[in-house]
Amino acid sequence: MASLSRSSLLVALSFSIFFINPSFAKPRPNVTDAEIITICSKTPAPSFCLKVLSNETLHANQTSLHGLAKISIELALASADETEVEISPLIKQAENYTVREGYTLCSQNYQEAVASLKDAKRLLSKHDYRGVRVQALAALEEAEACEHDLRIPAFNPSPLHDKNEEFKHYCNIIWAITNRLVDYY
Ligand SMILES: *[C@@H]1O[C@H](CO)[C@@H](O)[C@H](O)[C@H]1NC(C)=O
Ligand SMILES: *[C@@H]1O[C@H](CO)[C@@H](O)[C@H](O)[C@H]1NC(C)=O
Ligand SMILES: *[C@@H]1O[C@H](CO)[C@@H](O)[C@H](O)[C@H]1NC(C)=O
Ligand SMILES: *[C@@H]1O[C@H](CO)[C@@H](O)[C@H](O)[C@H]1NC(C)=O
Repeated sequence: MASLSRSSLLVALSFSIFFINPSFAKPRPNVTDAEIITICSKTPAPSFCLKVLSNETLHANQTSLHGLAKISIELALASADETEVEISPLIKQAENYTVREGYTLCSQNYQEAVASLKDAKRLLSKHDYRGVRVQALAALEEAEACEHDLRIPAFNPSPLHDKNEEFKHYCNIIWAITNRLVDYY
């Protein structure tokens, strides 16, 4: 008898935990295609954003806004990795000090940008969406600084211009998603 009532108490307890826990009580809805269009319209390059978020392999519409932010941070990190790989040989091949200095500074910019994005990932897991937004903008500014570091007359635009733009696009996607998360939660 005693063990039966104890087990029913346990069942009752686990049910109350189930209902009190807000993550169970309020399931996060999937992102709709309409919402993706709205998010992308808030970025400076909507067509790039749509191309990325409607990528079939990403299944962006099968996750929550939170999940979409996580995916976007991963994409930005992958983009930064590619750029860092591209910079190393450019430093070695630089024809003079000015050029070498520019690429070296860019390499440091991307190390900072990656640190910001890793911070963004940590803050996202704590649902600190304002914090994520700050880090997304910090990462974006590092790509702008890199473009500035390579302001050398012979380079117009810089050899890293396209990579810097791509990285900024990813940061703007994170920014637009976190703007909505800040509004909602
Ligand atoms: C879609 O995503 C996959 C995996 O990240 C990537 O390999 C592919 O190039 C992407 N396609 C487009 C059209 O961007
Ligand atoms: C998700 O988006 C893809 C491509 O945009 C679409 O084909 C698919 O039907 C969508 N799935 C859902 C569940 O809305
Ligand atoms: C989100 O999408 C997936 C795959 O289409 C589906 O199985 C799941 O039920 C959806 N979740 C919600 C909350 O709509
Ligand atoms: C270094 O090389 C760049 C690119 O060729 C050139 O524009 C610049 O004038 C050079 N600077 C010096 C100090 O030689």
